[in-house]
Amino acid sequence: MAIISDDENIKFEKTKNEDITSEETSYDMSFETNIRPKHFDEYIGQSALKATLKISIEAAKKRELPLDHILFYGPPGLGKTTIASVIANEMNTNIKITSAPALERPRDIIGILMTLKPGDILFIDEIHRLNKISEEILYPAMEDFYLDMTTGKAQTLKSIRIPIPKFTLIGATTKAGALSSPLRDRFGIIHRLEFYNDEELTQVIQRTAKILDIKINVKGAQAIAKRSRGTPRIANRLVKRTRDYAIVKSNGIIDEKTANDALDTLQIDKYGLDNTDRALLNIIADKYQGGPVGIETLATALGEDVKTIEDVYEPFLVQKGFIQRTPRGRKLSPYACKCFNISNIDLQQSLF
Ligand code: ADE
Repeated sequence: MAIISDDENIKFEKTKNEDITSEETSYDMSFETNIRPKHFDEYIGQSALKATLKISIEAAKKRELPLDHILFYGPPGLGKTTIASVIANEMNTNIKITSAPALERPRDIIGILMTLKPGDILFIDEIHRLNKISEEILYPAMEDFYLDMTTGKAQTLKSIRIPIPKFTLIGATTKAGALSSPLRDRFGIIHRLEFYNDEELTQVIQRTAKILDIKINVKGAQAIAKRSRGTPRIANRLVKRTRDYAIVKSNGIIDEKTANDALDTLQIDKYGLDNTDRALLNIIADKYQGGPVGIETLATALGEDVKTIEDVYEPFLVQKGFIQRTPRGRKLSPYACKCFNISNIDLQQSLF
């Protein structure tokens, strides 16, 4: 139950949430917004997810009710915010985008919930980082669309229920396991976003290039796709870097050779691994004889924080089969040894 003091008394002034924030605040947002697909027919990949969502959306429209609350989880850059915006467009509703770290105080979440209109979508990124008080404010809001609050002090303490419009909460997280179970249980639809295959990424790259008027042929797009770690956000970033390279070093057109030269210059290898990924594998191979090694030890040796390794680097390395998570820590896989020519881990050979 949220406590509001007398002086705050149910006047919900502009809170910091009303300044829309999102997962990409530190990233180039205008670029993201321009190329972001608006409808399902422009959205490439995630076909199982799209099929499920289309049915839920059609049913919600027929029933003239908001969609069930939705939780998306999966590694960063796979389009959780994008698909939430597509849903809002398909439902013809508004979307408010915020993230859990911006909802620190009760009045932050209350303020945003009070300004919703019927059918609106509230998107909360990094929802696993929501604090307990904000979470508890969300429970009755999600379940029965009211806010449960007390006002006044001591003897004058009064409990009040404030109805709010029926809305849809879309939560996004890179760590589904870190969500409390009462919160997770309140989502009617829970979906994992998958890494994109090379063909899907090629299409994403071609679409982005067309919107941004970048000249690229199919082989050029395929070359970038192969090194984009299954992630559209990375693919789109590499298109821009490759475009710059093509303008400076060639005729401005991205073909296979220009793409490969540009990516070599950026030190992104044929698997899409960058210097940090390689350093991480190298540490396991060289310093820990292939592992297992604990994540904290790995983070210290690499000079990165645990969260960045877990959220950014590791999911792709695990998905590619280069490292394995074991109860005793991270291990290099036999496949990694094969790809990087490590014949005997115990020899402490360097990977690169
Ligand atoms: N840009 C980023 N993600 C995309 C996707 N899934 N489809 C089309 N364009 C995108």
